[in-house]
Amino acid sequence: MGGCRHERAAFRPADAPCDPANTPPGTADTYALGRSDTETRRLILQHQLYGPFTRQFLTAAGITAGMRVLDVGSGAGDVALLLAELAGPQGKVVGADTNAEILEMARARVRAAGWTTVVFHAGDVMRLELEGTVDAVVGRWVLQYTPDPAGAEPASGMAQQRGGIVAFQEIDLSSPARAYPTGPLHDQLMRWTTPPPGTPGPDPEMGLKLFTTFLEADLPAPQLRRDVPLGGGPNWPGYAYVAETVRSLLPFLQRLGAVRPEDVDIDTLEARLRAEVIDQDGIQLLPAIVGAWSRT
Ligand SMILES: C[S@@+](CC[C@H](N)C(=O)[O-])C[C@H]1O[C@@H](n2cnc3c(N)ncnc32)[C@H](O)[C@@H]1O
Repeated sequence: MGGCRHERAAFRPADAPCDPANTPPGTADTYALGRSDTETRRLILQHQLYGPFTRQFLTAAGITAGMRVLDVGSGAGDVALLLAELAGPQGKVVGADTNAEILEMARARVRAAGWTTVVFHAGDVMRLELEGTVDAVVGRWVLQYTPDPAGAEPASGMAQQRGGIVAFQEIDLSSPARAYPTGPLHDQLMRWTTPPPGTPGPDPEMGLKLFTTFLEADLPAPQLRRDVPLGGGPNWPGYAYVAETVRSLLPFLQRLGAVRPEDVDIDTLEARLRAEVIDQDGIQLLPAIVGAWSRT
């Protein structure tokens, strides 16, 4: 996990040389889910489903009161908000994301929650300066968007530090969204959302690669956990989450030639997924998330 080398204790602000605004020509935006209000709402819904697992994961990893924590790929700020709670009023959370716009939403949410211990900076996880004094580097669903996860700067910086925590949670689409018992729409959904191997875009099995990634970054072998949100009945939020994920992915899937909008009928997808599960008194399973953590 290495990148642009830097002086100690310098978390570069938005206009500094390691900022994405200064991304070298040819460095593509690999965030396949797009950058829109819809995507921001999807991230918040996603956190309602996965947040309880993330809380358990971060607690198991040892995030505790008074810590100074770096959250990479903060998005709408859900992990940063969780970290603020765990680190408490004596702690400090620094969040970073390449998307300066979504950080405005993250800042507003942190303000609304009353936290004054959280700050956000625009920055690329590959080239972020690691402040020398952080106790932990954390990220969720972010390494999967980077071409060289073992090269992420903050975690490699942490490998040089004694007693630091590195903790990442990433997707495992080897267990994609599905229904039990399955039905034709959920089967179709799996085909839409499982791109053929080698397709450019996020790594669908990043979660399964975390163990190796930690070793490649010279971090101690991590402990692992794997979680799958699942539920049924009319009020299960998974149907909306899956439909909103397809909505965000739609332009990307269209570019790949994987779907036609008229086949998806996005505005009725949530209701049809719900009906398929309820008709069978079944359940819906969401994609698995793998967490890996180690202490240097
Ligand atoms: C799926 S969202 C996850 C947001 C948040 N971590 C969460 O769990 O709710 C991924 C976020 O990572 C950001 N991202 C993608 N590649 C990045 C990179 N190289 N450096 C920093 N952030 C990145 C995206 O802009 C996006 O906001």
